Amino acid sequence: MNHGQDGRCPNIDNRRRMNTMIVMMVGLMVARQSCVLAQENAAEALLKFKTALVNVDPSLGNWNPSTPPCTGNTGNWAGVHCFNGYVWGLQLENMGLQGQIDVDALVGLQSLRTLSFTNNNFQGTMPDWRKLPALTSLFLSRNQFSGEIPNDAFTGMESLKKVHLSDNKFTGPIPTSLASPAMVELGLDNNQFSGSIPPFPSGNIQVFNVSGNQLEGPIPPSLRKLDPSSFTGNSALCEGDSCEPPPDMEPNLHPLPTGVAPSAKRKKLSPAIIFIIILSILLALFLLLLLLLMCMWWSLEDDIETPRQEMSMTASPFSERSPQQQATKLSFVRDDRQKFDLQDLMRASAEVLGSGSFGASYKAVLVDGEALVVKRFKQMTNITKDEFHDHMKVLRGLQHPHLLPLVAYLYRKEEKLIVFDFVANSSLGKHLHDDGKRPEGWPKPLNWPCRLKAIKGTVRGLAYLQAELPGLEAPHGHLKSSNVLLDSNYNALLMDYTLGPMVNPAQISEALVAYKCPEYAMSGRTSRKSDVWCLGILILETLTGRAVDKYLGQGGQCYGAELAGWVKGIVEEANAKGAAGVFDKDMEINAEAEAEAEKLLQIGIWCCQEELEKRLDLVDALAKIEQLHE
Ligand SMILES: *[C@@H]1O[C@H](CO)[C@@H](O)[C@H](O)[C@H]1NC(C)=O
Repeated sequence: MNHGQDGRCPNIDNRRRMNTMIVMMVGLMVARQSCVLAQENAAEALLKFKTALVNVDPSLGNWNPSTPPCTGNTGNWAGVHCFNGYVWGLQLENMGLQGQIDVDALVGLQSLRTLSFTNNNFQGTMPDWRKLPALTSLFLSRNQFSGEIPNDAFTGMESLKKVHLSDNKFTGPIPTSLASPAMVELGLDNNQFSGSIPPFPSGNIQVFNVSGNQLEGPIPPSLRKLDPSSFTGNSALCEGDSCEPPPDMEPNLHPLPTGVAPSAKRKKLSPAIIFIIILSILLALFLLLLLLLMCMWWSLEDDIETPRQEMSMTASPFSERSPQQQATKLSFVRDDRQKFDLQDLMRASAEVLGSGSFGASYKAVLVDGEALVVKRFKQMTNITKDEFHDHMKVLRGLQHPHLLPLVAYLYRKEEKLIVFDFVANSSLGKHLHDDGKRPEGWPKPLNWPCRLKAIKGTVRGLAYLQAELPGLEAPHGHLKSSNVLLDSNYNALLMDYTLGPMVNPAQISEALVAYKCPEYAMSGRTSRKSDVWCLGILILETLTGRAVDKYLGQGGQCYGAELAGWVKGIVEEANAKGAAGVFDKDMEINAEAEAEAEKLLQIGIWCCQEELEKRLDLVDALAKIEQLHE
């Protein structure tokens, strides 16, 4: 008996073990195979997707089964973004594409998280994205989509964080399934949405734009803190819970069959009331005109270039409105400066230096002749006083020959003032682009040695910031030629650095230039190489003298495929004509220097690679630039 049992038990055990082993081996083989399979399936899926497109861009010619779509994190096919050998993003922008978006074809791409078809010609109704429940971002702005979006169009897509449908022709109500707690960015502006805004859970939403629709009714409380420009262009939207259109408006819209009620209403309008109405309309028109004149006056002020233009600070835009209620005490971060207070600043003669997307800046000359730059920021309203002071401590700790020193600051609820030292020679941007109206006393356009010096200083300053601030993704965050100031020896001094942590999240992508990088467009995040992207743009701008401002200004959500196009244009031109063909003629470059300038151009191009793995990191860029000679 015992023998039999002993004989049987091990037997069963062995069989079980064998089975387990076979299952494990098959499992391993499947796992090893799956990567290869994923590649084949991905290629197949994408090619199927492409067949439904019409007017296919020539760049998609490299969608070809002979190379896999992905190698590691590199996408081999145009517009395909990869991670670890899997397709995670599809970015087909500005291609004039039409036809069908074949969502079914994409179902097999298990790692697909973000889709962008911005600025094409897709028509018809909203595709059914619920078949891709793991999507996190969907960019469909600037197409011709139309029709109502079903209310449950996004139900179950719990990871969906960014949806941009701006500039289409969608009609009907905003689907309630878009009002999910996960949503961070929702761009619905310039469509024909009607009805009321569905209730939004408060919390995550940072960008929300429904301007230019036909919405009505109250703005949900969770959205009222957002920028008012998110709601403009909807005649019947209002704030407050009980702001339905006044009841007696309704009957007037639809003439009643019997004339009794309307005539009774009309009788109420006595001549006195009519007179008052006309008077208030006239008054409103007058105020509008006045406002218009003031705006024109201000923009004139901005355009005036003469440095000696003086303007009393009291008339300047940061004059005190109600001094009693406002903080007027400036906090000083450096002891080696003479102290002054806001009154001194207001009394100082001031000159507008510039007004960017971020804030205006002024030059103020104190009574004793000391010149300062006062910058005024309006997009920092979320930060508390303590947070602001803490961040100022961080900025105070940053000291480097190529950073413009911070002198003082002022916290006020609705705006922040930051005071810097003034530098003599204006900005690199001004030097590069202001040929026609060069202020008196300026030397000729910047020559090659000056330009190289400015770039060297810039990259040293950036490298310092990156080393000092390991916790920040884009330690500078706002590098552009108008923020690179030049001292009397043409040394670069970086301005507006490390402001990111203070800017309201909802406005950050519009306010800061680093957010115009490709990775932000794709994944909604900047990276340690985002500043390098900005550096690359700056290098190309400096060498070619071609202005890039218009791509860096208020551009909403798009990073400017335009910006990438600008880079591409320069690269192609340099390939066709040789590097010298794209250089700014004003650089007055000789044959010897030309070789060095060509190297710098190449470094600029390496810094402007859209894919992070191909882009130089800052340390390498620094090393390469340091080797260049004048
Ligand atoms: C909303 O969109 C409109 C039109 O596209 C734009 O002018 C406005 O600046 C946007 N507002 C915000 C806060 O994004």
